[in-house]
Amino acid sequence: MPSSPRRPFFCGNWKLNGTIAESLALATDVRNGVATLRSADVVVAPSFTALHAVAQRLEDGPVAVAAQNCHFEDKGAFTGEVSAPQLADAGCKYVILGHSERRQLFGEVDAAVNLKAKAALRAGLAPIICVGETLAERDAGETLGRVQAQVDAALAGISNPELAKCLIAYEPVWAIGTGRTATPGQAQEVHAFIRARVAAKDAGVAASLRILYGGSMKPDNVRALMAEADVDGGLVGGASLQADSFVRMVKEGS
Ligand code: 13P
Repeated sequence: MPSSPRRPFFCGNWKLNGTIAESLALATDVRNGVATLRSADVVVAPSFTALHAVAQRLEDGPVAVAAQNCHFEDKGAFTGEVSAPQLADAGCKYVILGHSERRQLFGEVDAAVNLKAKAALRAGLAPIICVGETLAERDAGETLGRVQAQVDAALAGISNPELAKCLIAYEPVWAIGTGRTATPGQAQEVHAFIRARVAAKDAGVAASLRILYGGSMKPDNVRALMAEADVDGGLVGGASLQADSFVRMVKEGS
């Protein structure tokens, strides 16, 4: 059982996987698998090309849709980008921002994550803001400093009522796709630190802020992670690509 007083939240980040047909099949199986579950928020994040079809398939059901990125301008001459209003139009309720793969592989910087979060909020989307340290930073004892800098930069200039709509995902880079999960204690330390950081802005918002863990979360480690007081859910990569493992994980963690 989760020990957090907040409603568990699980988002499957499908990354760069899936045709429209495959995404529809996976989304349908997830929806059917959680149909009787009332105790968690469940979200899937397909690729851009499948967002609208998946959102239509899931309409009026218990599973919501997230995008994996957005641009920070609403429109204009930005070839290849997708804006937050376009994502809302396609049926998204959430958008994942500042994922470490975007930071590491596509040069996304903290200032861009902040602008994207503001664009998402303007469009009525809830940002899922990702933070996390590399292995080198952890080994150098820089974990909390790195996370603090990312959280502060991402949330700069966001009002407290808007902050209440955000989620934060702590994803240690060394745990993503590696099979190496943070221990529950390691996750709890950083989650509690993030909550305290947000509490310095607004204690009430911090108390209800959902902080997700991400990095090799699976059906067999979700319980121990969710038993920590400040772990409120998961942002799940690999284990979300099969409906049965994702559904089992959500049920184990709810
Ligand atoms: P894995 O669950 O595959 O480690 O990926 C985590 C992640 O990056 C979710 O956003």
